[in-house]
Amino acid sequence: MTTTSKQIELIDLHPQAADMKQLVRIGLSRCPRQLPAWFLYDAEGSRLFDRICQQPEYSLTRTEIALIQSSAPEVANAIGEGVIIEFGAGSAQKVGPLLEAARPSAYIALDISAGHLRQATTALQQRHPQVPMLGICCDHSTLTALPEHPLLQGQRRIGFFPGSSLGNFEQQDAISLLRHFRTLLNGGPLLLGLDQPKDRSRLEAAYDDAAGTSAAFARNLLKRLNADLGANFDPRGFEYQAVWQAEQQRVQMALISSREQTVTIAGEAWTFSQGERLITEYSLKYSPEHAIALAKQAGWGWVRRWHDPKEDLSLHLLEATD
Ligand code: AVJ
Repeated sequence: MTTTSKQIELIDLHPQAADMKQLVRIGLSRCPRQLPAWFLYDAEGSRLFDRICQQPEYSLTRTEIALIQSSAPEVANAIGEGVIIEFGAGSAQKVGPLLEAARPSAYIALDISAGHLRQATTALQQRHPQVPMLGICCDHSTLTALPEHPLLQGQRRIGFFPGSSLGNFEQQDAISLLRHFRTLLNGGPLLLGLDQPKDRSRLEAAYDDAAGTSAAFARNLLKRLNADLGANFDPRGFEYQAVWQAEQQRVQMALISSREQTVTIAGEAWTFSQGERLITEYSLKYSPEHAIALAKQAGWGWVRRWHDPKEDLSLHLLEATD
């Protein structure tokens, strides 16, 4: 027995600061203002997100982990053989039971935060030494192709996109992303975890927990812009708000300017009026019927669904249609 932890190979394709500045310019010119959700996940943001997952109000992660655990033998049987590719692995706490039950040829984790990805895959490798692993730091929504790598060579690709991460994308973008995954996966299946609509009170509490973790996660976006793009936001000058928008079946999370204020980002001045919002992210919720319809529009056929006893969320298995 050896206790040395093997370093996992990591390919770093994180967007450059110049690209991020351009995205900020585009996002702040929108009305209302909105930045891509992946901006929330620098090292500190990824850490704060893990803390959200431990809050009593935010049950999504716990429920999904339990569902994957209890259905792992069935899921393994249904997904078949190949390499498992997880989009937005975060702390990679969900794939474990699948690695045991499905025995994939390899596990490839994609995530936007390099440090978090390194830690997560190193810990996972210790628990599952039999599965070869690779990390790719990237914005998977704009990645044109998976890099050439021996672990991908000639292997059937199985996509894994849990956690309702698709919920961060608005309808048209969600369709584009699912289409994009279809291309990246080369005809292989996709296992997609989606949260379902539920009571307003439960949803608003989940996205604005009593301990203030969700608010800190959103405010960290401003700190990140300060640190990485030389901005001068005053994070205390913004109030956090999470609202369930029933018509669009989504939670809108935003930072609202408490007063009129001017912020400089990469040498450019941006004025926020009092009450003006900066949308930090959306979290769209999908009923099973809605999920199937969305998948269909993106070239995916529905195979089957697993769900938790309370039907809070679903794990859908999709196959590429021609
Ligand atoms: C990672 C997009 C699934 O929408 O539930 C949780 C993000 N933000 N609390 C979600 C999130 C604030 C999360 N996703």
